[in-house]
Amino acid sequence: MIITVDGPSGAGKGTLCQLLAKHTGFTLLDSGALYRLTALAALREGIDLSCEEQVANIALGLEIHFKPTEQGVQVWLAGQYVSRQIREEHIGMAASKVAALTPVRKALLVRQRAFAVDGQGLIADGRDMGTVVFQEAEVKLFLTASAQERARRRIAQLEEAKLHVDPEQILRDIQERDRRDTERKTSPLIPAADAILLDSTHMDINAVFEQALSAFERSKQRSDSLR
Ligand code: DC
Repeated sequence: MIITVDGPSGAGKGTLCQLLAKHTGFTLLDSGALYRLTALAALREGIDLSCEEQVANIALGLEIHFKPTEQGVQVWLAGQYVSRQIREEHIGMAASKVAALTPVRKALLVRQRAFAVDGQGLIADGRDMGTVVFQEAEVKLFLTASAQERARRRIAQLEEAKLHVDPEQILRDIQERDRRDTERKTSPLIPAADAILLDSTHMDINAVFEQALSAFERSKQRSDSLR
């Protein structure tokens, strides 16, 4: 069974997917990490992020290793531990730029599909999991929240980590990333026609998890009854 979870940055997809993976024992694909790794590798090579072919070559040749843990997926790039580095704001912005390049999306498609192994469940976290990468998924969720609420959560995270915060800049960055993710011509961020919409603006993660879980249980019962 495949469960896809799409939606904008900061809506709570990562936390929801971790809870779902823990509950189901399914493999977790953090597709955003692939775009972040591509951006980091390209920046390290000094490549211009608008140069489609060069960035796509980087995506094709990525030497990466993922290790699922209770705290989330840990990531290595060319043997170097980069889990924290790929979460930095400027890498998120760079990831959003490379994600708008069609050849890069093509290059990462096969890698993403390879996570779906026969007989094993998959939770796929991203922007186009339900619309492009796993159109056949049994359960499709689209998790969103207002830009203001997502900015508020990001500011709280940064303050907790005692990092410098410019609240207006955070909101602007979120809006800019939303615009780029929704307006790009290849695989724009939109809910699949058969996706269940969840809005976490006024819901805590436990309530979101309950709703996602009941969608999953319903789908499991349907497929069990067809056997
Ligand atoms: O989910 P995230 O913040 O780690 O994603 C980083 C960027 O990659 C984000 O700007 C959108 C892009 N992305 C994408 O275009 N398609 C995906 N399946 C996952 C992420």
